Amino acid sequence: MRMPTTPRQEAEHAAEVLSKGGTVAFPTETVYGLGADARNAEAVGRIFSIKKRPADHPLIVHLADMSQMEEWAQDIPMAARLLAKAFWPGPLTLILKRRSGVLDAVTGGHDTVALRVPSHPLAQALLSLFGDGVAAPSANRYGSVSPTTPEHVREELGDEVDLILDGGPCILGIESTIVDVSSPTPQILRPGSITEHDLRTILGKDKDLASSPLTPVSSPGNKPSHYAPRSRVIIATPEDVLPQAMAWRDHGKRVGILSPFRPPDMPEDVTWLSFSGSLQAQAKVLYQRFHEADHLGLQVLVAVMPQDLGIGHAIRDRMQRAAGLGKNTDVKTRSLESSKTALTEETS
Ligand code: TXA
Ligand code: MG
Repeated sequence: MRMPTTPRQEAEHAAEVLSKGGTVAFPTETVYGLGADARNAEAVGRIFSIKKRPADHPLIVHLADMSQMEEWAQDIPMAARLLAKAFWPGPLTLILKRRSGVLDAVTGGHDTVALRVPSHPLAQALLSLFGDGVAAPSANRYGSVSPTTPEHVREELGDEVDLILDGGPCILGIESTIVDVSSPTPQILRPGSITEHDLRTILGKDKDLASSPLTPVSSPGNKPSHYAPRSRVIIATPEDVLPQAMAWRDHGKRVGILSPFRPPDMPEDVTWLSFSGSLQAQAKVLYQRFHEADHLGLQVLVAVMPQDLGIGHAIRDRMQRAAGLGKNTDVKTRSLESSKTALTEETS
């Protein structure tokens, strides 16, 4: 009979699996990661083959605490130290000049390395017991939605991972904010729960802070279909969410609506997925809803974005990526047009 184990024993076992070159899916406060010993090229290679991720896409190295930064990065600027001190452990990833010796398999051959100290207690236990860097992307296949529950990981990667640590649902639900501090002007490469405002509070309002999406070279996160469920995602305003849904449904599609309120007069054969509460609550359930849309076999998901305020910015970023839209698209015009074009294409 298998004895019940404590979280501490689970973490000890997981650290052992990592030391032997195995892979461990583990919870963080953002999403689940798929980890391997960042000093072991063969183990890191396993991550890429499980995820089916192109080899030149760099991974984040997860550390137990800030004191390990120097083992991975060099020429660390003051801005990076200030941000690390303010937000670690937490949902912030810093891009720094890499130290020589850091594996190309981890950095994708770039001269920078991504570092993060997560705050989830199970991740913390694992990282401090392991004692060195754990390379970990989100624990999903390349291009699909990040997992926010152990069930998501099991469904998608199942037996291919040596161990899945169960830490329940992730409390934040979207990936960390990525800030490139490897050049004089820090740049936000991916928005997250730590907002531009939060970063400015620490950097000082006179410090330049650029915001530019991850470039295709340095990031798989820029692929149009990234962060997307299998359902086609259409962004709509609260006013046109029902007309849009009806247009797709009238073309025989299985349609869902992701919005704070169930639209009145919504027909029975359209599914409503609730997306309500505070912005934090919405961030926490976004990927869960995407996974639900896939379970329900929805072909189209018409979604209403939250306000562009605080963490709402990061939620909108992920929704737009899921819809394959660029950052600066006029949401209403574009969505109506794209629905019309797509419907014409499908019926022609
Ligand atoms: O919240 C998170 O960040 C989660 C948890 C598991 O920590 N991890 C995560 O990893 O989202 P991943 O691999 O799915 O996304 C990391 C992003 C990728 O778009 C990758 O290209 C980018 O970070 N990245 C990693 N190293 C980089 C580097 N040196 N320069 C630029 N971008 C980098
Ligand atoms: Mg990912």
